[in-house]
Amino acid sequence: MGQTLTEKILDDHLVEGELETGEEIGIEIDQVLTQDTTGTMVWLQFEAMGLDEVQTEIAAQYCDHQTYQFDFKNTDDHRFLRSAAGTYGAHFSRPGNGICHNVHRENFAAPGKTLLGSDSHTPTPGGLGELAIGAGGIDVTVAMGGAPYYIEMPEIVEVRLEGELPEWATAKDVILEMLRRLSVKGGVGKILEYTGPGVETLTAPERMTITNMGTELGATTSIFPTDEQTEDYLERVGREDEYVEIQPDDDAEYDDEIVVDLSDLEPLIATPSMPDNVVPVREVAGEDVQQVIVGSCTNGGYEDILPVAKMLEGRQTAMETETIVAPGSKQASEMLARKGWVAEMMAAGVNFSEATCGACIGIGHVPASDSVSLRTFNRNFEGRSGIEDDNVYLCSPEVAAAAALAGEIVDPRDLADELEDLEDPGVELPDEYDGSKTDLIAPDEAVDDELIKGPNIGDVPLKDQLGDDVAGEALLKMEDNITTDHIIPATQDILMYRSNVPKLSEFTLSRVDDTFAERALEADGGFLVAGENYGQGSSREHAALCPMYLGIEGVLAQSFARIHRANLFNFGIVPLTIDEETYENIDQGDEIEIVDDVYDAVTSGQEEFTVRVNGDEYTATLDASERERDILAAGGKLAWTKDQAEESG
Ligand code: F3S
Repeated sequence: MGQTLTEKILDDHLVEGELETGEEIGIEIDQVLTQDTTGTMVWLQFEAMGLDEVQTEIAAQYCDHQTYQFDFKNTDDHRFLRSAAGTYGAHFSRPGNGICHNVHRENFAAPGKTLLGSDSHTPTPGGLGELAIGAGGIDVTVAMGGAPYYIEMPEIVEVRLEGELPEWATAKDVILEMLRRLSVKGGVGKILEYTGPGVETLTAPERMTITNMGTELGATTSIFPTDEQTEDYLERVGREDEYVEIQPDDDAEYDDEIVVDLSDLEPLIATPSMPDNVVPVREVAGEDVQQVIVGSCTNGGYEDILPVAKMLEGRQTAMETETIVAPGSKQASEMLARKGWVAEMMAAGVNFSEATCGACIGIGHVPASDSVSLRTFNRNFEGRSGIEDDNVYLCSPEVAAAAALAGEIVDPRDLADELEDLEDPGVELPDEYDGSKTDLIAPDEAVDDELIKGPNIGDVPLKDQLGDDVAGEALLKMEDNITTDHIIPATQDILMYRSNVPKLSEFTLSRVDDTFAERALEADGGFLVAGENYGQGSSREHAALCPMYLGIEGVLAQSFARIHRANLFNFGIVPLTIDEETYENIDQGDEIEIVDDVYDAVTSGQEEFTVRVNGDEYTATLDASERERDILAAGGKLAWTKDQAEESG
């Protein structure tokens, strides 16, 4: 039987297990990336494990989430990260150089390679044929130290693209259509492999818009085959020698198939406050828009901003609408500036921002209260913009530019009818991505050779080995689709404590219940209860680390998002799956007890656990590999890795 593209890459990197759905496999990792909010813990854990040198072909440390240096904390973190990259042998991308996925795709992403990143949108270079997976920071630490990455073999789903995009429909509409059909849970446990005749009609950057936002589907990753478009992009970024052709075999078999006819697509928009609330733009046309932002790792490339510049050239943005362009990389900013497009956009009323995640996580450009913000980003979870009851819509750069001109949501096709000389700008790649590289420091140019820690950089907290008696109060009961943003918000005032876990923990779940952290510390143990898809969103391991620090011993949820589930194991918190009836029967404040001897049950491979709630008994499931059970029993991955190192002498 032939192989899928995913199987070919996995086969090439397989060090343990067999490529059968649901089986745990260990794969060799070629490249790793980390960013500033997850990176400090990655390096502190690297140090705590006693590792002394990066072992992967490429390791890259980016500073993109919190680039504004409001006070010494962020600046200290940036300096620590630079010193860690220098000390251990990673590339260092300075704050302001751009968003990790944009800078990575321009400089390092390569077909046929594996990439593990401590950021949920790590799958972005899947559009270049790289098998790229997001993971918790400690998984990245371990991979960077040369160990395999373990994952349950996902289902492989063929997404067959037919036809060609019509005017004004874009790659963003392809992925919005996928979200409309599949929802934010539709990709869980799956790798989406794009095939079909529509593939060759999309440039590599368009493909990367699609693979970037496969994360919003909950997919493990998304990937495209490589072809002339891939080769063409690699030539333009000056890395044509890294091209390899990888295609699925003609007789490859997939677990499922989805067909998207590109020619049926039209401009789409995700309405507040979930990326899967997708409707045609025309359905919400006429809504006043107070803010438009173009950028992020989804649509922050040179070729994403160029259409906006062309649409705005010689025109004026609406007076009531603030329009901001935040390129994904400094290279994109520099190229747009050199070609005169920055000046054109500024003349049209655009406020040009530094290349940063910024507004995507509520750091800067927070919308006004009771206002509409239209963004080309990938997420619009409630409150993520920095204000609680926000109204954030997600759309393509073309739809964003149309709204900036009209001051309201408008289908660009209708605006083009009104403004006769407004044409679909189409997709145009530069001949050469020729921005300077002064902000990317290679390991052999390292500035530092020892770690520099400021006063806000603490130690990595450790948890004791799992005990036999696990009991406590249901400290918080939550609904479906709780995001890691709910657990640890990523706003500036909170995330500046990312390297100081005791302080950061004070904010745990504060967006759901602001007494939670205090109650958890007081209770000295206890449970979280949640509905479906608990922990979706960002890969932020603080969302497990802080609850661990507060003494949370278990999470009972109807289902878990993939990366967060792994993070719970990595920090020694027992993730048990419960059915809807059990969920309905637990109230906040109930006393919960796991009846089994937990340590013995976990290590012996027991799957069904008896959970006693107010005297009634229910069944909960621990679906975990042997390795995951060992990690849980040891009290988390750091303790487990140290034990392993001691055992092997
Ligand atoms: Fe940054 Fe937002 Fe992407 S936080 S990495 S731009 S999802």
